[in-house]
Amino acid sequence: MNLRNCFNIRKFLSVSAIVLVFSSLSFAAHDKKIATVTIAPTPDQYTVQPLPLTAIQCAQCHTSPFQGLKENGGNHQFECQKCHNLLHAYSPRKGNYDAIMPKCASCHDALHGAKINDCLACHSNPHTPRKIAATPLIATFCYNCHATIRTQLDTVPSKHTKVACTMCHTSHGFKPSCFTCHKPHVEGQTVAQCLQCHPVHQPRNIVFPTTTPSNTCSTCHSPIVTKLAKGASKHAALTCVTCHKGKHRFIPQCTDCHGKPHNAAFHAKVPRCLTCHIDVHDLPVLTPKSK
Ligand code: HEC
Ligand code: HEC
Ligand code: HEC
Ligand code: HEC
Ligand code: HEC
Ligand code: HEC
Ligand code: HEC
Ligand code: HEC
Ligand code: HEC
Ligand code: HEC
Ligand code: HEC
Ligand code: HEC
Repeated sequence: MNLRNCFNIRKFLSVSAIVLVFSSLSFAAHDKKIATVTIAPTPDQYTVQPLPLTAIQCAQCHTSPFQGLKENGGNHQFECQKCHNLLHAYSPRKGNYDAIMPKCASCHDALHGAKINDCLACHSNPHTPRKIAATPLIATFCYNCHATIRTQLDTVPSKHTKVACTMCHTSHGFKPSCFTCHKPHVEGQTVAQCLQCHPVHQPRNIVFPTTTPSNTCSTCHSPIVTKLAKGASKHAALTCVTCHKGKHRFIPQCTDCHGKPHNAAFHAKVPRCLTCHIDVHDLPVLTPKSK
């Protein structure tokens, strides 16, 4: 019994000694400085949960991504963090730039087909997704998406067939003016008029609109234009395309408009109208003058 008490007292004493040593040590720590400065703790500020930055706040530092989205963001005009869920995590030591950037595939399928997979090569700025860069890569894929244009260029071969798409379409969707490369036939002609006669991908497939004025023909057929205008016959009142309608180089038949006006025997004897009427562009007529 005594022995046991004795043991307990010894145990108590040794525990007290350890506590004493430790508490004296901790008093010593307060006396010795572990920082070279004194800063008052402000634990209150760590009780708050900060709100995520808004796009406007991001924009205060990142003006150009914001400006891009503002002007040409289209359907990408949503919160930055929907794409940038890993933020300010770039480390030159890790060289992880590409790894932390948003991936198109996290929200889009390979919607142009498996071959067209390097999204950023064409959609070079994700903040302006519909602005497609005019890169050599896109030039190799025009036909994938615009097969009909290739067919148009090939079925009616012209000098445009040999002009690269990107020579004219210098950026995606841009439609050039004919005047970048050509002069008009006559002063005052508009691009809209050019296109009425020359479908741009088949410029040799020339189709005249019925409203075409005769001066359009004068660059190349000025003698006829002058002759017709000066002539005394009723043909002078007609525009060139009244007769030469539809395709360029179409030659009409007199009978298309006049039928066979003389008696049958007469026509049988002299089948060609111009044997007597001589020149369609300057018909000899019994004008009041010559009558
Ligand atoms: C966080 C998801 C997300 C990521 C990442 C993403 N997109 Fe989008 N994207 C969308 C959504 C949503 C739309 C709108 C879809 C709709 O209107 O149906 C869209 C629309 C587009 C459009 C059409 C824009 C318009 O104005 O119509 C293009 C082009 C596009 N994305 C390309 C890309 C490319 C290229 C990448 C990678 C660089 C990419 N996206 C990354 C979600 C995303
Ligand atoms: C549709 C997804 C999407 C949205 C929305 C988006 N980004 Fe981006 N952002 C990207 C992708 C993808 C890249 C990587 C582009 C690359 O690798 O060339 C990028 C790159 C960046 C970069 C680094 C390259 C640079 O252009 O300086 C910054 C900064 C940036 N984004 C800021 C923003 C800010 C700010 C917003 C919102 C105002 C925003 N982004 C919205 C997809 C997005
Ligand atoms: C106070 C300024 C500031 C704000 C606010 C800010 N950034 Fe940045 N951000 C920077 C700086 C500085 C860099 C590094 C240098 C650089 O790439 O321009 C950077 C880099 C980036 C990068 C590329 C590198 C990386 O580590 O991600 C992206 C993407 C980016 N920021 C997106 C955002 C988005 C999205 C927001 C809003 C949610 C935002 N930033 C808010 C200053 C800011
Ligand atoms: C060879 C160039 C090229 C590549 C590579 C490319 N795109 Fe496109 N993408 C385009 C063009 C051109 C358009 C049409 C733009 C327009 O409507 O003006 C387009 C349109 C889109 C659209 C809008 C579709 C719609 O119907 O409105 C989305 C979304 C898109 N691309 C996503 C992607 C993604 C994701 C990738 C990568 C897997 C990708 N693109 C790769 C050229 C490309
Ligand atoms: C990934 C598919 C894709 C590729 C590659 C592509 N386009 Fe497009 N393109 C489109 C889509 C989609 C549109 C918009 C819808 C439309 O008008 O057909 C468009 C529109 C256009 C337009 C404007 C059409 C209009 O009526 O305003 C032109 C011009 C054009 N593309 C030329 C080109 C040329 C040139 C190339 C090659 C350098 C090319 N595209 C490559 C998909 C593509
Ligand atoms: C000589 C210049 C030129 C060449 C070469 C050319 N285009 Fe065009 N393209 C134009 C012009 C100009 C327009 C506008 C026509 C209009 O407004 O009717 C146009 C219109 C378009 C359009 C939209 C109208 C439509 O018909 O659907 C597409 C798409 C297009 N081009 C694609 C292409 C592709 C793809 C190629 C190459 C295979 C190509 N173009 C070659 C000048 C050219
Ligand atoms: C980027 C320059 C460019 C643009 C834009 C352009 N063309 Fe051309 N076009 C050419 C070249 C190059 C030729 C071949 C000239 C030569 O060899 O003498 C040509 C030839 C032609 C020819 C003769 C075709 C043949 O096979 O004989 C016609 C017609 C023509 N262009 C009409 C137009 C019209 C109309 C437009 C506008 C809708 C237009 N072009 C826009 C470059 C262009
Ligand atoms: C009323 C129809 C018509 C209009 C409008 C028209 N053209 Fe023509 N163009 C022609 C005819 C016809 C030819 C001769 C084709 C041939 O040689 O077979 C031609 C030839 C051309 C040629 C081939 C080179 C040459 O001079 O012989 C070019 C280039 C051309 N046109 C460009 C244009 C441009 C640019 C415009 C608009 C400013 C335009 N054309 C308006 C009918 C027209
Ligand atoms: C840019 C020049 C140009 C323009 C503009 C032009 N033509 Fe021509 N046209 C030609 C050439 C070149 C020939 C072929 C001449 C030859 O074979 O001796 C021709 C031939 C013709 C022929 C004769 C076909 C044949 O078989 O002999 C007719 C008809 C014709 N053009 C009508 C017109 C009409 C009508 C217009 C105006 C709406 C017009 N052309 C505008 C260049 C042009
Ligand atoms: C009343 C109908 C008519 C009108 C209007 C007309 N032509 Fe003709 N043109 C013809 C006929 C018919 C021929 C074929 C004559 C022949 O067989 O010798 C022809 C032949 C031609 C030829 C080819 C033969 C040659 O003489 O060189 C050209 C070019 C031509 N016309 C251009 C024009 C032009 C340009 C105009 C407008 C200034 C015009 N024509 C107005 C009916 C017409
Ligand atoms: C596109 C229709 C058209 C064609 C083709 C055409 N003409 Fe005419 N012609 C007319 C019209 C319209 C008149 C005027 C009728 C009137 O005012 O009574 C006319 C008038 C005439 C007259 C009367 C002239 C006058 O001043 O009184 C003669 C003669 C004539 N045509 C002969 C011809 C001959 C010959 C040809 C073929 C070489 C021909 N025409 C081709 C439409 C045409
Ligand atoms: C053998 C000569 C000859 C032949 C062939 C001929 N004509 Fe005539 N045509 C005439 C004479 C003469 C006149 C009367 C002139 C006048 O009254 O001014 C005439 C008058 C006309 C007139 C005007 C009649 C009117 O009522 O005003 C037309 C239209 C005409 N011819 C069309 C044709 C057509 C079309 C052909 C061919 C199918 C043709 N002619 C063949 C000699 C000819």
